[in-house]
Amino acid sequence: MEHQSNWWHEAIFYEIYLRSFQDSNGDGIGDLRGLIDRLDYLQDLGVDALWVCPFYESPHVDFGYDISNHTAVDPRYGTLADFQELVREADRRNLKIIVDIILNHTSDEHPLFIESRRSRNSPKRDWYIWQDPKPDGSPPNNWEGFEPSCWTYDEETQQYYYHFHYIQQPDLNWRNPKVIEEMFAICDFWLNQGVAGLRLDAINYLVEDPELRDNPIVEELPEYLRNIFQFNQLPVHTINHPDNHPLLQQMRQHIKTNHPQDPLLIGEIWVPTTQDIREFYGQEDNELQLPFNFLLSTVPSLSAVAFREKIQDFEENLAGLPTTVVLSNHDFPRSTTRYGTPDRSDRIAKLLATFLLTLRGIPFIYYGEELGMVDTPPDRLDEVQDPRGRLRWPEYKGRDGCRTPMQWNEQTNAGFTEGTPWYKIAPDYLHRNVAVQGQDPDSILNYYKQLIQLRRDRPSLRQGTLTLIGKDEQVLAYTRQTDEEQLLILLNMSPQSKSFSLPEFADRLGQILLSTHPEKDSAMVGETLPLMPFEGAIALLQH
Ligand code: GLC
Repeated sequence: MEHQSNWWHEAIFYEIYLRSFQDSNGDGIGDLRGLIDRLDYLQDLGVDALWVCPFYESPHVDFGYDISNHTAVDPRYGTLADFQELVREADRRNLKIIVDIILNHTSDEHPLFIESRRSRNSPKRDWYIWQDPKPDGSPPNNWEGFEPSCWTYDEETQQYYYHFHYIQQPDLNWRNPKVIEEMFAICDFWLNQGVAGLRLDAINYLVEDPELRDNPIVEELPEYLRNIFQFNQLPVHTINHPDNHPLLQQMRQHIKTNHPQDPLLIGEIWVPTTQDIREFYGQEDNELQLPFNFLLSTVPSLSAVAFREKIQDFEENLAGLPTTVVLSNHDFPRSTTRYGTPDRSDRIAKLLATFLLTLRGIPFIYYGEELGMVDTPPDRLDEVQDPRGRLRWPEYKGRDGCRTPMQWNEQTNAGFTEGTPWYKIAPDYLHRNVAVQGQDPDSILNYYKQLIQLRRDRPSLRQGTLTLIGKDEQVLAYTRQTDEEQLLILLNMSPQSKSFSLPEFADRLGQILLSTHPEKDSAMVGETLPLMPFEGAIALLQH
């Protein structure tokens, strides 16, 4: 499958969890004007595209992923004029805007659902998924999602409605062509506002098993789901139904026809294997241009062996295709928290930065990742903001921990708000913030900037092929290569110093371009290379 080169092939993306980025009006919630005020920072960081999490009118049960009006900006986030200014101001700085589009479900306060719920005879009844109870009154099947059951009973009309996520997020019925038409119009609306692409939320959840068969029960969840779910069943009939694919083909066709620049469609898909990911590109680039690849983020511990296995798999099964590199996002603990401990979290943050920005693929930086921010989960039930944290407390504390406000400076509330922040600020903000790190040449922030610059300067990091080197248990090694240059990347994933031997490069001694340990910069690479604990190094090999 041949993919044309597009702007996004070489771009670095940055995810803005808007609620936590920058508040401009003192209500404790980040907003569009706050983001506009921080565009210079993002430009200076060197990223190319911003994925902005939902800012549409919403009751905020799922903080905007429950939409009550898809084409209106929620007053908490600003106005449509603010959004238009964001697009203009971003454009002036060569930053592209990607919006988050939620097509699988709406809020239960959306006028369409209110109408659908009104009566069994409502003309909108079949816009959602309604089912009779079982003869004993129980839900139609065993499906679980965010809630212990995906079905909620409506007393008035005596049927259950389906919602994979919260009770307040009823699923739309994508088997109804009118729903499809309405949802495509929403995509058009935002694309007509000048955005460069759409991040499609939960896009492999659109349709379910028409026979409503029970999901199989399992003792333990498979690795690929552990970041996002807590249920004890395999969601084979709720997620990733094959009928999603023709819908995505239809969507791409619609968007391509109506927007000749063929805007970027990034899809959120949690699937078990790279073969599954592959299917979302379509047979002839006729579905998503960029299905998310989350498989790296599911590796349970910092292990050169486990990461090597994943990369090997990507190289074999996603060869020639653009793929994403994601270590953190707003739905699961940050990578610093998953792989680090407090005493080594900064070293690991730099190591992971080296990984994120040197792999073959399109990197997604989650806000604050460039500071090495770590999770701060709720300590007490009454602090919990994300309802999921209440549903299964205390085994699972919800997603608040990875959504703490951005740490801008050492002032009150880390410079995030002049009001009361919607959720607590991480206690390390006095030293972990943009202002302090900006002044320190060895900070994580400045290391990110150097890496991003290196990616700009070195075509092999943007376009080169990737070859895994060796099978070391502690050190993950690979090269990135174009006809003109070859870079060697070494990541010591262990707390021990390591003498890594490089017999295959004996006659190609090179120079370290960048290391997480700055005293190594410009050092020459010999046949053996001493690596410090958790060191990441990038070396240029001689031709
Ligand atoms: C996606 C979002 C998540 C949200 C869910 C329901 O997984 O990333 O934050 O809760 O969809 O919209």
